[in-house]
Amino acid sequence: MAKVAIMGYGTVGSGVYDIIKMNSAKLSESAGEALELKYILDIRDFDDHPEKHLFTKDVNDIINDDEISVVAEVMGGLHPAYEFTKQLLMSGKSVVTSNKELVATYGSELLAIAEEKNVNYMFEASVGGGIPVIRPLNRCLGANNVKRIAGILNGTTNYILYQMIKNKKSFETALADAQANGYAERNPAADVEGHDACRKIAILSSLASGKELDYNKISTEGITNISLEDVNYADSLDSVIKLIGYAEFLDNGKIYAHVAPMMLQKSNMLAGINDVFNGVLITGDCVGDVMFYGPGAGKLPTASAVVADMIDSAIHRSRRAIIGWKKTDEDIAASTDDKKFRYFVRTTSGGVSDIFGNVTAVESLVEGENAFITEALTASEMAQKSQKLGNIISSIRVFD
Ligand code: HSE
Repeated sequence: MAKVAIMGYGTVGSGVYDIIKMNSAKLSESAGEALELKYILDIRDFDDHPEKHLFTKDVNDIINDDEISVVAEVMGGLHPAYEFTKQLLMSGKSVVTSNKELVATYGSELLAIAEEKNVNYMFEASVGGGIPVIRPLNRCLGANNVKRIAGILNGTTNYILYQMIKNKKSFETALADAQANGYAERNPAADVEGHDACRKIAILSSLASGKELDYNKISTEGITNISLEDVNYADSLDSVIKLIGYAEFLDNGKIYAHVAPMMLQKSNMLAGINDVFNGVLITGDCVGDVMFYGPGAGKLPTASAVVADMIDSAIHRSRRAIIGWKKTDEDIAASTDDKKFRYFVRTTSGGVSDIFGNVTAVESLVEGENAFITEALTASEMAQKSQKLGNIISSIRVFD
């Protein structure tokens, strides 16, 4: 019998509770022993809960209980999740989490503590919600040098873009729906401004390279500037606009990464990923392109990945499962100018080819404006030329 605890009884935490209760026989079969829930930590009162005796407001009840071997940290946010996780690992307990902010920020330190204490720190649910991607990237693709990772990594923004396009919902209504469905972060700016996707591409990149990629060095744009006109232009080009977390592993050992809305041909494997679904396209030097697809957010899908990590941690109580990366002194972030993209551009200025040279004209959908696609440019070249031309309405990278 493995005795376990949940920290945080929000959307994901209550999903973890439901799965432990609903699928207890299956969990015992998978872990080779029963998982018995002994504590739920939350600062709120749950007096009407059928197992209200499990609730505690004091993390020390869990830390000081030698019977507890695995803890699910599903509180979200950096503090006190960081302090609690550190104390739990130090006291010899394995911790599993859906908290991408914590993994991207303090993952290297927490992984090192787990190694020192011979316990596990697992984070399958931190990227892609219910999609198995962390373990497959680490284990099943372990024979490959990863060349590129490109993903739709945020369910909320994908849901919003899809609802705007298909159901003509306003940005605000679509966001409110995503919040009501439990997809959005507590502060949805993290979703719509791309920060959530940024942490996730940092986690995937660190895992693929074995070295920490600092998420603060990843250029990040969200979807707040994307208009219905942009979406219509994309459609006229047989394309769609998606928020993409992008990482390319360069020959010099550095990683070029960004989060930004990108224009994708409808034939691209990521283009058909709609609603709250996520997709991660990984290119390995041996396997080629591999796509991971599934529900990227939501209560039971995310909890499914958390509970799978609890099972794996229970199985690996005496022998660690090695999934992670190390912090090194090396700066592995490439410059934003180490990679060129073509850009789709809308402007009310004339004289486009005088400044941008050879461009592909796009039929204008709005009176008084020009639309075109540039040749491949670095971010600095694009910024300089855009400033010179002036009156830029939008510029969106093309995914080639
Ligand atoms: N807010 C996140 C998303 C939750 O929408 O993808 C899952 O990480």
